[in-house]
Amino acid sequence: MTTVSIAKAKKGSNLNKVENTNSVYLTKQLNLWYGEKHALKNIDLDIKENEVTAIIGPSGCGKSTYIKTLNRMVELVPSVKTSGEILYRDRNIFDADYSVEELRTRVGMVFQKPNPFPKSIYDNIAYGPRIHGIKNKKILDEIVEKSLRGAAIWDEVKDRLTENAYSISGGQQQRICIARALAIEPDVILMDEPTSALDPISTLKIEELVQELKQDYSIIIVTHNMQQAARISDKTAFFLNGEVIEYDQTDAIFSNPSDKRTEDYISGRFG
Ligand SMILES: Nc1ncnc2c1ncn2[C@@H]1O[C@H](COP(=O)(O)OP(=O)(O)OP(=O)(O)O)[C@@H](O)[C@H]1O
Ligand SMILES: [Mg+2]
Repeated sequence: MTTVSIAKAKKGSNLNKVENTNSVYLTKQLNLWYGEKHALKNIDLDIKENEVTAIIGPSGCGKSTYIKTLNRMVELVPSVKTSGEILYRDRNIFDADYSVEELRTRVGMVFQKPNPFPKSIYDNIAYGPRIHGIKNKKILDEIVEKSLRGAAIWDEVKDRLTENAYSISGGQQQRICIARALAIEPDVILMDEPTSALDPISTLKIEELVQELKQDYSIIIVTHNMQQAARISDKTAFFLNGEVIEYDQTDAIFSNPSDKRTEDYISGRFG
C-alpha cells in the first residue's frame, strides 16, 4: 500500500472494508536489483485472497519482475539481488529454509504467449500431477477433466485429448495453459499479460474465466489493457519506474486516482 492509500484507509475509504479478509501475499519493502539496475524499489503491497489484483504500468516499470518474484522465478537470473520480505500465507519466501518447490506447487503461472508442452492435450494437464507421483489412470482422468472444465475448455477439446496441444487455436492453447496451472490445485495464479497475444473473443473468454476462478483462487494479473484491468480486477497497483505509485480498489484507481501520474497513465497521456 502506498502512503496515499494508507492515509485514505485511515480516513475510512473502501480499503477498510477488506481489512478482515486474509492476505495471500504481503510484500514489505521489497527491493530488487538486476546487477546495478534497481528494478523494484521499496514495494509494499497487501494482496488479498479470492480477489483479482491487477498490476498496471508502462513498459519496463517492473510488473513482470514483481510477479516473477512472488514465485521466486526471478532468481533464475544470476545477477538478481533482493532485500525486504514477501510473506506468502505469513511465511517469508526468502527464508533460507523455505522450499521453492513447495511454493511453486501453491503458485501457478500463466505467461503472455501460450506455451503448452509439445505433447497431447491430456499429457499437458497430467504433467504436473504425474510429477507429484500420481500414476493412477482413473485419478489422472478425473484431474484432467476437472482442470479443463475449470479453464472453460472441456467442451471444446474433450474429443481431442490425444491431439497435440499445438493443433488448437492460440486462445484455446492459453486456456490449456490455465488448465495445466489448475491441475496442481494451486492457491494463487500469476498471469503475465495472458491475453495480449489473443483475439478479442478469446480475450473475453479468459476475462470471464478469471472472474469465475477468483472464487477458488487468488489471481494476480499483469495487463497493459486498461479496460481489462477495470473490468476484471478488484484492486489495482500502478507501477512506475520500479515503484508502486498507487494501490487501491480498482474503482477508485480508475474513477478517482490520488496521484497525477496514475491519472496521466490511465488516461493514456504516457506509457
Ligand atoms: N534479466 C534481466 N536482466 C537485466 N535487466 C532486466 C532483466 N529483466 C528485466 N530487466 C529490467 O528490469 C526492468 C523491469 O523489467 P520488467 O520486465 O519487469 O518490466 P515490465 O513492467 O514487465 O515491462 P513490459 O510491460 O515491457 O513487459 C526493465 O528496466 C528491464 O530492462
Ligand atoms: Mg512484462
